[in-house]
This record gives sequence, C-alpha cells and structure tokens, in this order.
Amino acid sequence: MPEIIDLGAYGPDFVADPHPYYAKLRAQGPVHRVRVPEMQAEAQHAWLIVGYDEARAALADNRFAKNWSNAAVPVVDPEMDAEWQLMNMLDADAPQHTRLRKLVAREFTTRRVEALRPRVQQITDDLLDAMLAAPDGRADLVEALAFPLPLTVICELLGVPDMERDTFRAWSNELVSPTEQEATMTAAREMTAYLDGLIGAKRRSPGEDLLSALVRTSDEGGDQLSQQELLGMAFLLLVAGHETTVNLISNGVRALLQHPAQLAALRADPALLDNAVEEMLRYDGPVETATWRFTTEPVEIGGTEIPAGETVVVGLAGADRDPERFDAPDTFDITRETRGHVAFGHGIHFCLGAPLARMEGRIAVRSLLDRCPDLALDTDPEALTWRTGMMRGPQHLPVRWR
Ligand code: HEM
Repeated sequence: MPEIIDLGAYGPDFVADPHPYYAKLRAQGPVHRVRVPEMQAEAQHAWLIVGYDEARAALADNRFAKNWSNAAVPVVDPEMDAEWQLMNMLDADAPQHTRLRKLVAREFTTRRVEALRPRVQQITDDLLDAMLAAPDGRADLVEALAFPLPLTVICELLGVPDMERDTFRAWSNELVSPTEQEATMTAAREMTAYLDGLIGAKRRSPGEDLLSALVRTSDEGGDQLSQQELLGMAFLLLVAGHETTVNLISNGVRALLQHPAQLAALRADPALLDNAVEEMLRYDGPVETATWRFTTEPVEIGGTEIPAGETVVVGLAGADRDPERFDAPDTFDITRETRGHVAFGHGIHFCLGAPLARMEGRIAVRSLLDRCPDLALDTDPEALTWRTGMMRGPQHLPVRWR
C-alpha cells in the first residue's frame, strides 16, 4: 500500500494555490493515497486521482459508485450522516439517478435556458448599476456580482420567495466548506427545515416555478417524488446552482486581471468570450475535486489497485492541468483548445446546470468588462483568502474601476 499523503498538512499555501501541489503529485503518478481533512479519522484515507485520462475514466466508470452505502467505513461521523439523509441525484447511481435526473433534465437544456437570457442580463445590469454607484469606485466583486447573480437566478427558477439570502448563504457555505461538525449539522438541520416549509407552501399554493411543478406533478409515466427526494432535489439545485458559478465569475475575472495581455485580447475581440469562459473553467475551475465516489469492487486504475469500499476523490483541478492533455497547462490562454476539460465533470453526473452556468458566466464577464473599461484588482493577489473544501474560489475579490 502506498504511503498516505496528508493534504491537510500542506496548510494554507495549498488552499491558496493547490496547482503546484497537484503538479508535483502528478509527476509521481496519476493516483495517490491521501488523507482529506473533511473525512472522519476512522475512515483514514481516500484515493486522489490527478491524471486527466484516469480522472475521465473514473468519472465514467460505474464501479466508482456515488451511493455512500458502498463505503466500507463511514467517511463522515454516522451521527452526522443520520442528520442528512436526503436523497439526491448526485448521491445516487443508476437506475435511481436516471429517474431523478430525468425529472428535471428538460428544464436545463440549452434551449430552455436560452429563454432566461433577458432576465439574467437584467439581473446583471441591476447588480452592476448598484456596484458602480459606489462613490470610491471600488467593490468586492464576490459580494457585488459573483454571488448574488447565480443565487438570484436559481432562486427565481425554483420559486424561492424573498428568501433570507444571507442566512441561506451561510448554511450553504457551511455545507460545502465545512468548519466544524456541530456547525455543519446545525446548517443541515436548519436548511432542511426551511426547505420543508417551502415545499409545504408550494403544495398549498403552487406557482409557475420549478419547485411547484415538481411538487404538483409527476412525469408522463406517473413518477412521484417522495418528500425526502423533493427536499434533496431542492437542496441540490439551490446549492449546486450558485456555490459553483460564484467561483466561475470570481476565478475567471481574477485570471483576466492578472493576465493583462489576455484581458486586452478579449476586449479587442468579443468573439473570444465563449472560449475565454471555457479557459477560465479549465485553468482555475470552480470545483477543485469532484464529490466522493466509492469502489464497488477492487479496481485497477493508472497502475494502482484500489480495494473495494474505498473513497475516491477525482481531482478536477489536477486533471485540467495535466500536461499530457493540455500543452503548457499553467498558461492562461483564452485562445487555446479547451475541449474536453472536466470542470463540469464527465459521465452520467456531468453537470446538469452547465448551459445555465455558461450563460451566466458569459453575461457577467462581458457586461462587467463593457461597463468597466479600467477594471483592475484592488488588492495584492497574495492577500486574497480562499474557500476551503471541494470548492475553489476567493472569499472576496476587491476590484476598482477608476
Ligand atoms: C460554473 C458553474 C458550475 C460548475 C463548474 C459545476 C460543476 C459540476 C460538477 C463538476 C458536477 C459533477 C460532480 C461529480 O461528478 O462529483 C456537477 C453536477 C451537477 N451540477 Fe453543476 N456546476 C456548475 C453550475 C451548476 C448550476 C448553475 C446548476 C443548476 C442547476 C448545477 C447543477 C448541478 C447538478 C444538479 C449536478 C448533479 C448532476 C447529476 O448527478 O447527474 N450546476 N456540477
């Protein structure tokens, strides 16, 4: 058995910039035995995949299952697990996954999402109006745009009324970047209670929104979601719908502002925008590591044999900087060929919201650049603080435009 590498011991440098660490690991091999800070001590270790080919292979292989019942040793405290028994598609395998995804898939197709474009533009314009009113010409881009844009869009889509956004954000942040167990359990409990109340309200007086549709309906085959499944769906869509896109906007804008030639090229040729957003996703994607998978049988991958019942972490950030797949992977180049990046995952769990995320990212970046010809970072990049856990993004991004 290979030695266990404790990722937590890498400390704040790893959180601020994990890429050199992944590069070093990748140079030694595509698969490593690691200890992940979020795992409970008894589970001891997981397998981290940092090679591109191996990451794609694992994401498309159903022997790397998503259902937590496949873990030989519970990876989180069982008390915590009991608190959080929602079933959602991202924690399910076929055929349950197929069924849950089918219930919402048609709402998120490129064509369906296109209908939201005017509203996404309007929300962006309103947020930028408010931001640009700052008398000193400075703002935290995360607070002003990157966070409220995707949250407003997903809340409107699901029919979440003037919700306590700050409270919701605190719960959601705690669940994806956990601090300590008690706080995580409280966040899980309070968010479930909130969503339970919301679903009850939709049942009593349905609206035109997606959550009402899910509550009210069944699909053509007469499929019904149980209360736990409804809660799980609402939770997944709300959290996945904004925790990620916030980082696309903030990581993407940071990359542009730190690479003036790329920024100038994009300003000079707006037709580069779509590929620029793909390069932002590849270069510094919002999701550093995919959600945990569990081997259903012994699996050989990248020359390493992983026993059954083990936890596997696919390092999306590591894979997207694999020099075997992308030339000069540490270079931010908005004109490069970005096809095949795994920022949205791969296989049956490929991001359901990718068309929506792309649209939001493109509108946000284009509108921001149009309205702020002198946009610049308003901090020493070294001073930025970073989110922990599976998400990759700055907690704040100070910018100025005068
Ligand atoms: C730039 C923004 C986004 C990124 C980078 C992203 C990334 C990802 C990734 C990597 C996965 C797969 C995780 C895994 O296999 O472990 C995923 C799944 C998912 N994403 Fe996104 N996501 C983004 C935005 C969104 C949005 C806006 C929604 C809104 C609905 C969304 C909904 C989902 C759902 C429902 C799944 C689970 C799909 C399944 O299990 O079949 N995501 N996302």
